[in-house]
Amino acid sequence: ASQSKDEPETYDFIVVANRLPVDSVTDEAGNQSWRMSPGGLVAALEPLMKSTDGAWVGWPGAADVVLEPFEHENIRMVPIALDEGEVERYYEGFSNDTLWPLYHDVIAQPSYHREWWETYVAVNRRFADAAARIADQGATVWVHDYQLQLVPGMLRESRPDLTIGFFNHIPFPAYGIFSQLPWRQQIISGLLGADVIGFQRVADAGNFTRAVRRLFGYETKGTRVWVPVGDSSDATTGDRSHIRGAPVRRVIARAYPISIDVTSYVELAQKPEVQARAREIREELGNPKTIMLGVDRLDYTKGIGHRLKAFGELLAEGRLDVQDVTLVQVASPSRERVASYMQLRDEIELTVGRINGDYGSIGHTAINYLHQGYPREEMVALYLAADVMLVTALRDGMNLVAKEYVATRADLGGVLVLSEFAGASDDLRQALLINPHDIEGVKDAVMRAIDMPVAEKRRRMRALRKRVLENDVIKWSRVFLEELKHSTTAHPVSHDH
Ligand code: G6P
Repeated sequence: ASQSKDEPETYDFIVVANRLPVDSVTDEAGNQSWRMSPGGLVAALEPLMKSTDGAWVGWPGAADVVLEPFEHENIRMVPIALDEGEVERYYEGFSNDTLWPLYHDVIAQPSYHREWWETYVAVNRRFADAAARIADQGATVWVHDYQLQLVPGMLRESRPDLTIGFFNHIPFPAYGIFSQLPWRQQIISGLLGADVIGFQRVADAGNFTRAVRRLFGYETKGTRVWVPVGDSSDATTGDRSHIRGAPVRRVIARAYPISIDVTSYVELAQKPEVQARAREIREELGNPKTIMLGVDRLDYTKGIGHRLKAFGELLAEGRLDVQDVTLVQVASPSRERVASYMQLRDEIELTVGRINGDYGSIGHTAINYLHQGYPREEMVALYLAADVMLVTALRDGMNLVAKEYVATRADLGGVLVLSEFAGASDDLRQALLINPHDIEGVKDAVMRAIDMPVAEKRRRMRALRKRVLENDVIKWSRVFLEELKHSTTAHPVSHDH
């Protein structure tokens, strides 16, 4: 990092994300320290951050935590403080009760509140200013996800020297849905401040470029968008009459499907103690013939209710019996102060209780429901123990659980049942693909997974593993950043396509 007197240190590679990649831990003596979060994004960027003089701008995850920048495992952390009201309006409100349901095809009703929007703008400004303050001349800034869609535009304005990337980790909805948003134009112009805008699926990138055409009339071709430079009237009026030959910036909008830190999962799955734990789990569950597994944040996008309905009906119809089969559902707590999440929790727990009450027997529980988060070792042990993995999302940007399951199954055992509404289904074609809304279809897929001949299981898992092992998250970030390097529009280009 370079530093001159009285100036903040500056960096040539900056990640901007809602959350910092560290969790605060406090030991028994009350000493606070930081631990690297287990997420895949951290794994993808860690080597790069360390080798290229990088900094990470993010929120520490609790209200009113005001911290000076600090170093953790050689990464410069730049914390952004949010007060109670900002957490309510920017994080719980606009991010998770407006954008999240809207971008997931309005599975839950999005709320539109002008105060939330105002705070979203103000907090995005705070993140952008923090990044601008610490960016070297000509630095690369990579902004992440729906919480920060205005940051690329704000940075482009204050720091035209920067190369700016944006990656949207969640789906981008069709225009007919996106157009509900009262601030749809501001969001699109915010994103268009980036040189490269990454999406999970080809369809997401297509939805985005269509929104650009509908709202602004800018020219788009495949993954390219031509944005007039310095003509902000276009950006606000949607005027389609910008003149050919006028200076434009070329923005790339395309799919870069994210993945996991494959090696770490493969290695964990090879550990004797993890394999022993997998056997122990099977035993603790009473050695059922079939263990089915669901692993999700407790979120209404994950289709947990649909999955339980299918399982409950199979038990009711006698196609499954608790003597032979059990479902382990890990539902990790998430966004617990948002009303739709509270309601979901009540619904799911009512359903679990009913199914267990109606079909369980002493010593044989239908559903082992765990409203807890677990360390990675335990998750991998669960994956190894699971004969059938159920991913029934109603809408999901990618779904990394599906990829984690596949990565751990070097034994070529296990069957993945995967929703076609998860981005992962674009790649993982050898899973049993389902439409989670089609309950009969889900039930048939579950039965087929349970009864699948070993040879077919192995053939499918081998093909799935090939896909996952070839495309890990390190490659994902490399491909994105390569494209970014070649697409920088720090200097306007002429309209020469
Ligand atoms: C999704 C989003 C992330 C988010 C994560 C956990 O994966 O794409 O941006 O961090 O959910 O949600 P939380 O609200 O706890 O950060």
